[in-house]
Amino acid sequence: MEKGKKEIKTRIYVPSKKNIAHVARLLREGEVAAIPTETVYGLAADAWNDAAVRRIFEIKGRPQDNPLIVHISHISQMTQFVMSVSPLAKALAKRFWPGPLTIVQRKSDRFCTCVTAGLDTVAIRMPSHPVARAIISASGTALAAPSANLSGKPSPTTVQHVYEDLNGKVRAIVDGGKCEVGVESTVVAVDADSITVLRPGGITVEQLKEVCPNVKIAKGVLEHLDERERVLSPGMKYKHYAPKTPVVILDGDLTQFSEYVEKQSRLGRVGAMVFDGETGSLAVPCVSYGVKEDGLSEAAGLFRALRAADELGVSRVYARMPAKDGVGFAVYNRLLRAAAFHVVDLDAPHKPFVVGLTGQTGAGKSTVSAYFAKAHYVVIDCDRLARTAVEKGAPALAAIAEEFGSQVLHSDGSLNRAALGRLVFSDKQALKRLNEIELPYIVELIQAKLSLAAEEGARFVLLDAPTLFESGADRLCDTVVCVTAEESVRLARIKARDGITDEDAKNRLNAQQPEEFYLQKSAYRIVNNGSEEALRQEFDKIMQSLDALRREKDA
Ligand code: TXA
Ligand code: MG
Repeated sequence: MEKGKKEIKTRIYVPSKKNIAHVARLLREGEVAAIPTETVYGLAADAWNDAAVRRIFEIKGRPQDNPLIVHISHISQMTQFVMSVSPLAKALAKRFWPGPLTIVQRKSDRFCTCVTAGLDTVAIRMPSHPVARAIISASGTALAAPSANLSGKPSPTTVQHVYEDLNGKVRAIVDGGKCEVGVESTVVAVDADSITVLRPGGITVEQLKEVCPNVKIAKGVLEHLDERERVLSPGMKYKHYAPKTPVVILDGDLTQFSEYVEKQSRLGRVGAMVFDGETGSLAVPCVSYGVKEDGLSEAAGLFRALRAADELGVSRVYARMPAKDGVGFAVYNRLLRAAAFHVVDLDAPHKPFVVGLTGQTGAGKSTVSAYFAKAHYVVIDCDRLARTAVEKGAPALAAIAEEFGSQVLHSDGSLNRAALGRLVFSDKQALKRLNEIELPYIVELIQAKLSLAAEEGARFVLLDAPTLFESGADRLCDTVVCVTAEESVRLARIKARDGITDEDAKNRLNAQQPEEFYLQKSAYRIVNNGSEEALRQEFDKIMQSLDALRREKDA
């Protein structure tokens, strides 16, 4: 907010001659104003007025080391800002201006405002939007303007987006309609005989090659840059264009996409960002962002869709992979950033090393599981998933009620665990039937959780599952470890843990598979009779074997 907490009244102006002259005057007097361009809306101020430019950084919450673009309305203005205009820069300007190309060159010593954030270069572009050009021209100066979003939000492509972000923060927003291009300008650096794309955008690599065949793509356009890495374009460092909801790109066809999304939707509310005409094929909340394989259309719809994704009320959004050629390359670059580089190849999804952990109840799996967590394993608690599987309204619960009758439900329709427990822990047949009904649902949830861990780049996963073998989830594992303990130890543990009688506890132990069952099917065994030190030693030994196994698998 303003100094002295003064609330600013924001007005939206239609681009009449009179309004353009008025806003241009405000800008000349040191105000900031949001203006349309053909790419995205910009938050403009007089490039020569240091105080005004500082306000842009303040309003956006923009990091101080991220420089702004200088917008000009005539090519001759360029010489005021740069040391000298190289022949290649001149050729690019001639070919693509006015239009969505920004050219970075050595800056002139005369130009020293915070526009350049302390760099010795300056980025310049001449927009083609008639309203932008009219405002720049009427202001009699050049305008520094980043995109008119709050830092970290998707760039605004409509006047409503600008208003959402800047209401109460700026006096004037000029309505120029929907931005035609929809993604920001292409930013290039030039030297004697090559062009480096620092940020892909409205002018494509193919178009640049028409002027100079030697076009390089800067590191950081398609890969995540390390914090400490030197970047050519500071903007690349920041997690741009991100909605609040995590985004994951799925690379595959529509059938694979909808199967994957459907599977993940069983874990929680997920949404999808798809192509026009595809929303009908998915059973989750959707937004669409353009026509499939049409980069121009996807560019025009991308930022609106990213903003809309936050309104879906979901915990995760899966996006279709955009076209990667032409302007699609810019769409791909923005979406990669929105997804924090999380991409799943649906033909060959990344598979973490998966260890199954099982054993009789009371054997002390949880303690061992905590050891794995400390050793950087992502732990999937299958007991918890088993509870999710029978939550009120879940398909597994309906199936169970059908088999065992409404006595296993509370009056509100949720599961009466105690009642079901009494039925199955004293009757092996009943327990078997329960497992047959419930386990397939649980395995689906386990698979979804595994995919989720893979999406997040997990390298090691532990499936902590009492019924690992019964469910068949052992088939999802690279190897299996079982935990065993003497019967008296297990009995004491479950009585203390669950607060049940001696008899109930014994019933539970009797309903379980014998120890040999686990030993026969597991590759490793850990004995946990209660001594921390002994357990630690066994665990360390097994970890060495698991590491060796993983390396073998990776090789
Ligand atoms: O289409 C656009 O370029 C829009 C409209 C409003 O013109 N503007 C825009 O500005 O996208 P902004 O500030 O959101 O992005 C400017 C990008 C940033 O990635 C910044 O790091 C880079 O340009 N940049 C600016 N000056 C630079 C310089 N001297 N060297 C390298 N990169 C620079
Ligand atoms: Mg921006």
